[in-house]
Amino acid sequence: MEDGILKIGEYEEGDIDEIICIERDSYPTPWSENLFRSEMTSPISRLLVGRTTQEERRKVVGYIVYWRVDDEIHLHNIAVRRDMRRKGIATRLLIEAIRCSRLEGARWITLEVRHSNLPAQRMYERFGFTVRGIRPGYYTDTKEDALIMWADLRLIPWGDSTGAVVAEKIIDE
Ligand SMILES: CC(C)(COP(=O)(O)OP(=O)(O)OC[C@H]1O[C@@H](n2cnc3c(N)ncnc32)[C@H](O)[C@@H]1OP(=O)(O)O)[C@@H](O)C(=O)NCCC(=O)NCCS
Repeated sequence: MEDGILKIGEYEEGDIDEIICIERDSYPTPWSENLFRSEMTSPISRLLVGRTTQEERRKVVGYIVYWRVDDEIHLHNIAVRRDMRRKGIATRLLIEAIRCSRLEGARWITLEVRHSNLPAQRMYERFGFTVRGIRPGYYTDTKEDALIMWADLRLIPWGDSTGAVVAEKIIDE
């Protein structure tokens, strides 16, 4: 049965409304629709979308936005629908981004994360990201510091059983 199986693919027209709902529910200062649209037209930006089929309708459950700059990947946004969290969806999105980036020859991956965002930090740590610096007051809404995290794409395990395990978790729901 197809219901509940996560599929990850490129952004498609028609995803934007659900993406904006997830975005607004996920961040104190969400990206605007215009910002997402400008990402879609940027040659260095990639937007991958996770979808499940529920009640015979495909639904967006998460997304990831990253830039490729030379041999570096800059992760700019990753979010999962609140009621679908802790099922491995962000992990799958990140694995797919890493898989594609490695195929294209990227070597490093970096991101900024709020000092208080422990769920995201725990996830990045599982991928081998480490904190390499701090941007004081980086988030203008709360003046919160950003942790700068880096990982070596060559050292991140991917393409192992993780994807299969996650798919089982989602099907079981
Ligand atoms: C961060 C976020 C993307 C994680 O999405 P998710 O699909 O729930 O993540 P996963 O299920 O793949 O979790 C992977 C691991 O991350 C860690 N993690 C995720 N959420 C966690 C939480 N609330 N508390 C502690 N650890 C957490 C755990 O180690 C988890 O593995 P486990 O469930 O086997 O223990 C999601 O919480 C979200 O959308 N947050 C709002 C947006 C955001 O903060 N994005 C990151 C910006 S830097």
